[in-house]
Amino acid sequence: MTKQSNILLGVTASIAAYRACDLLTELREKSYAVTVVMTRDAHHFITPLTLQSFAGTSVVDDFFSVPGRVKPIHIELAKQSDLILIAPASADVIAKLAHGFAEDVLTCTILASTAPLVVAPAMNEKMWENRFTQENVKRLKDNGARFVDPIHGHLVCSDQGMGHLAENAAILGVVEKTLK
Ligand SMILES: Cc1cc2nc3c(=O)[nH]c(=O)nc-3n(C[C@H](O)[C@H](O)[C@H](O)COP(=O)(O)O)c2cc1C
Repeated sequence: MTKQSNILLGVTASIAAYRACDLLTELREKSYAVTVVMTRDAHHFITPLTLQSFAGTSVVDDFFSVPGRVKPIHIELAKQSDLILIAPASADVIAKLAHGFAEDVLTCTILASTAPLVVAPAMNEKMWENRFTQENVKRLKDNGARFVDPIHGHLVCSDQGMGHLAENAAILGVVEKTLK
C-alpha cells in the first residue's frame, strides 16, 4: 500500500480564506491527510471551527494553546508534512517567508521544514504587482517554492483585477505534480 501523503494547508488573512474549505474537501477526496495551520489574522476571515469541520482534524493556530505539550508543535508539523500548501497566501506571509521570518506557527513550520512549498497567492491587484511583492515571489521561487499565480477575476476592492486566487483545479494540479 502506498503511503498517504500528509499535506499542511496554511490559511492566511485574505478575503479568499473561505476557498480553503473547498480545497480541503477536494484534498480529502484525493485521500490526502491534511493538517490546517491558520494565522492569527486569518481568524478575521474564517473560524477554526469551520476549517476544522472541513479538515476533519483540529486546526493549529498558536504555539501555546495545548498545555503540557512536550515537543514544539512547529517541529512536529515540519517533520510530518510531505508538502506545505499556502492557499490563500497573503502578501504579508510571502514577505515574511522571503525574509526568513518565524513569528507564528505557519512561518516557523516552513522554516523548519524541508518539504516542498506550494504558494497560491490572493490579493489586491496593486499589492500583487508591487515591486516588493514581486521581488519576494522571485526570491521564494529562486529557492524552490512553486507558485500557483493568481488570476484575473473578481476582487473585493474593485470589480475585476489580477490577484484572484487561482482555480482549485490549478492548485491541486501543482500539488499532485509536486508530490509525484
Ligand atoms: C477586508 C480585507 C481583505 C483583505 N484581503 C487580503 C488579501 O486577499 N490578500 C492579502 O495579501 N491581504 C489582504 N488583506 C490584508 C491582510 O489581512 C493583512 O495584511 C494581514 O495582517 C495578513 O496577515 P497574515 O499574513 O498573518 O495572515 C485584507 C484585509 C482586509 C481588511
